[in-house]
Amino acid sequence: MMRRFIVQLLILSVLVTNAAYALDDLLSKDIVVYKKPECHCCVKWIDYLKEYNYNVTVKDTRNVFAEKARLGVPEKLAACHTAVIDGYVVEGHVTVRDIKRLLLFRPEIKGIAVPDMPVGTPGMERGNAREPYNVMSFDEQGNVKVFVSHE
Ligand code: CU
Ligand code: CU
Repeated sequence: MMRRFIVQLLILSVLVTNAAYALDDLLSKDIVVYKKPECHCCVKWIDYLKEYNYNVTVKDTRNVFAEKARLGVPEKLAACHTAVIDGYVVEGHVTVRDIKRLLLFRPEIKGIAVPDMPVGTPGMERGNAREPYNVMSFDEQGNVKVFVSHE
């Protein structure tokens, strides 16, 4: 608990001094992505991650729902692909910014999810169209909460 507090204090001081880039280097960039072989938007999301220098390990699977179940993604939060980074589950078309937010603050949750593949999220671009959406968090106990709201 104390360690968490210190880490958060550190993060805060870094954010305040506008030196977040230094901390960014400390965040994991190794991500495993489970997807169906023919999923097109999944590939676009993976390309997006690669643009931000993530090391992506792609696991093609016929039964992506088995992976979601194994990793504890609530059914109602399911999207297309499921990823794992630094012990956290990242479901759907989540932005790099929100992945970093997760890894920086390390909340006591299993992971975050963008259900239903909203238009305008990375990999789901359609011109300049943008749907408002929420990034949800989920935990071991089955609690689902809003992690970030994108209006
Ligand atoms: Cu998708
Ligand atoms: Cu996908």
